[in-house]
Amino acid sequence: MTNLGPVPSTGSPLVASGLTKVYGTDHTATHALAGVSLTVSPGESVAIMGPSGSGKTTLLHCLAGIIKPTSGAVSWRGEDLTTLSEGRRTALRRQDFGFVFQSGQLLPELPAVENAALPLMLAGVSRTEATQVAARWLAHLGLAGMEQRRPGELSGGQAQRVAIARALVGSPGVVFADEPTGALDQATGAEVLSVLTGAVQASGAALVVVTHDAGVARYCSRTVTMRDGRVSGEFFAGSPAQQAPAQTHVPDAATRAAMAAHPANGVPSAAQAATTREATR
Ligand SMILES: Nc1ncnc2c1ncn2[C@@H]1O[C@H](COP(=O)(O)OP(=O)(O)O)[C@@H](O)[C@H]1O
Ligand SMILES: [Mg+2]
Repeated sequence: MTNLGPVPSTGSPLVASGLTKVYGTDHTATHALAGVSLTVSPGESVAIMGPSGSGKTTLLHCLAGIIKPTSGAVSWRGEDLTTLSEGRRTALRRQDFGFVFQSGQLLPELPAVENAALPLMLAGVSRTEATQVAARWLAHLGLAGMEQRRPGELSGGQAQRVAIARALVGSPGVVFADEPTGALDQATGAEVLSVLTGAVQASGAALVVVTHDAGVARYCSRTVTMRDGRVSGEFFAGSPAQQAPAQTHVPDAATRAAMAAHPANGVPSAAQAATTREATR
C-alpha cells in the first residue's frame, strides 16, 4: 500500500450488467439508466462521454457502489455491489476505489500533502508514512515543493493534481473521475486529463472518466458514448472505430468529435452519414 511503483494490472474486471436506474415514481419517474452493460478490464482506461442528462454520473455512481441501481448487477472481485449492505459498500469503496470530482474536494485548511494523505490516514496508516506516500505522488504529478500549500494557494490545475494524488495513494483497483476538468480552462483541462490518465496507468489501476473533452480519445484506451440512459457508441484507441451493437444510427456529435481526435478514426462525412441513415431505416 505504500509503494508508488507500478503494480501489475492483474485481478478481476469490474462488470456491470443490465443496469437500470429510475429516479422518482409514476409520472415523475426519470429513467436515468435504461439497460447499460459495461466491462472495465484491469488497468484499462474508459472515457464516458455524452450530452448532459444522458446518465453518465448515474452510471459512474452505480459502478462505484455509491448508489444502487434499480435493477442489474455490478460485480467486483467476486461480490455484487448492488446486494451489499451500505456499510460493506462504503468499506469496499474506501479500500478499492479512488475518486476525483470536478472541484471543491480538498479540505481548505489542510496543506496539499495532508489532503493527499487523507485516505491512508483514514485507513489507519501512520501520519508519517501516509504523508511520505502522498509526497511521492505529489512529486510524480509535478507538485514537488508545493506540499505545504493550502488549496487556496494552488491553481485549479494544481488542486486537481492534489485530488489525483489523493485518489491514488491507497493503491485503488479503479479510479472514478466525474468531469475532473469541468472547472478548468481547456488547455489546463487537457493537461490534467493527460496527467490523470498517465498517473492512473502508472499505478496499475483502471480508470473510468466522465468528460466533455473531445480530445479524451488521445488518453484513454476506450471511449463509450451515452445517450438517453444507454450506451450509444464505443470505440477503441489505436484501431479503426468499432461500434457497439447498440449503435445502428449515425454517431452523435460527441462520438464524432471524440473519434476525430484520434488519428486512427475518421469522422464520417455527410455523405457517409446519409448512407448510414439510409441503411438503418
Ligand atoms: N437524484 C436524482 N433525482 C432525480 N433525478 C435525477 C437524480 N440524479 C439524476 N437525475 C436525472 O437522471 C438523468 C441522468 O442524470 P445524470 O446521471 O446526472 O446525467 P449526466 O451525468 O449525463 O448529466 C437526468 O434526467 C437527471 O435529471
Ligand atoms: Mg454528470
